[in-house]
Amino acid sequence: MAAADVTGNWLAEVAAPNGNVRKTYYDLKQDGAKVTGFLRTSGFDRPLEGTIDDTGTVTLTLETMLGANRPSMKTVGTLKADGLHLTMRMRPDMPPREVVAKKVADGEGLPPARIEPPALHKVRSNGLAKTPPMGWNSWNKFAGRVTAEDVKGMADAMVSSGMKAAGYIYVNIDDTWEAGRDGQDNILANSKFPYMKGLADYVHSKGLKIGIYSSPGPSTCAGYEGSYGREEQDANTYAAWGIDYLKYDWCGAARIYKDTDMQAVYQKMGDALVATGRPILYSLCQYSRQDVWKWGADVGGNAWRITGDIRDGWNSMQKIGFSQNDHDQASFARPGHWNDPDMLEIGNGGMSAEEYRTHLSLWSLLSAPLLAGNDIRTATPETLAILTNAEVIATDQDVLGKQATRMSRTGDQEVWVKALADGSKAYGLFNLGTEAAQMKLPVRGKVRDLWLKKDVSQSEFTVPPHGVALLKVK
Ligand code: GLA
Repeated sequence: MAAADVTGNWLAEVAAPNGNVRKTYYDLKQDGAKVTGFLRTSGFDRPLEGTIDDTGTVTLTLETMLGANRPSMKTVGTLKADGLHLTMRMRPDMPPREVVAKKVADGEGLPPARIEPPALHKVRSNGLAKTPPMGWNSWNKFAGRVTAEDVKGMADAMVSSGMKAAGYIYVNIDDTWEAGRDGQDNILANSKFPYMKGLADYVHSKGLKIGIYSSPGPSTCAGYEGSYGREEQDANTYAAWGIDYLKYDWCGAARIYKDTDMQAVYQKMGDALVATGRPILYSLCQYSRQDVWKWGADVGGNAWRITGDIRDGWNSMQKIGFSQNDHDQASFARPGHWNDPDMLEIGNGGMSAEEYRTHLSLWSLLSAPLLAGNDIRTATPETLAILTNAEVIATDQDVLGKQATRMSRTGDQEVWVKALADGSKAYGLFNLGTEAAQMKLPVRGKVRDLWLKKDVSQSEFTVPPHGVALLKVK
């Protein structure tokens, strides 16, 4: 028989480097030496199982939460007079740290009650994104550190660097701008964004547009305030601020809704955005669950994420990019509605210039949204030359709006083809291997090399390792 009783609702608070406090509840029940319960964060509720011995040492195992290939997480703690001392791992790959969890009221930390999502219907089109959206987003480079000053500086740099002239128009604030809500439940921006309306005015004064981020759940992926139950109110706030773009990220919604509720839940915000009367581009982020490409347009979506998060490395980029032929999603891309293989990493340092050219070539063939994810203020001429190559961008922005498909794959060599509005086709000859390869253009015609920016006469190309020949053929 264990000496102590760990039954209760224990709250562990851990401050992130940016000061945001993440709350983790251990809602535990002890029966003899056996402990059961739930681990609750703003993002999920997961069953726990464990034991307690007569010294008060508790060992808890969390059900594998991130897919079968991730290990279950184990937490060890000791029950003491001042609380439950836990050796916590925020992520399996991070070092453990000791946190003292305090007993709080039963029921604290439970997800809010489910609000029944609306019946399905088609959301009125907002008429936006006739070609894939282009701009910049804060997440890949800044994550939780982004501030209003960064966004202002980025708007300035978009103009001075030539990014705006190349077509990059949206300046998008990703997660971590949110505070809580005021007495009337209006969403508030935190101290990093002291005056959102002023920031929007500033971005607009540069001839650019501004985007923001939220979640249909009570909280976002980074644990900030979401739009749950406040969809219309938040849409109206965005419109009043002058927001032009919303990225709406599932995350915390998983605590309340099933995947089968997704379409209706996304539709709710789609309707709310249209009802504001302001054209607000609607970008769905739910990592392609539920075959989102089949219903993304019906909920008013202008783009929908089709993958998990990209990282600034060849493996991540090529895995995402070259898997875009695995389903039938290409046929669903069309003017106003695009598959989104996630944002660009060009210029963030984890890939070579060759690999970044492959990244932009592939994304352009895929008619993907082109959202730069680097710091434009300090971008090198080489990075800017890649990002602003007009002929490559024209491939992405082609008004026919057809997404490329893979034509052939031989070993490490892949050929992708995209039909263009003027009757010509763009071919990407990709070499995924680590040695240079000779690759043949599978058709004849008048050939233009979009990276060399000149007409060429040969039909065989030496493609560097991890590189591409991007060719337009008439
Ligand atoms: C998810 C999204 C990312 C980013 C973060 C922010 O992981 O997929 O693109 O928005 O959330 O927390």
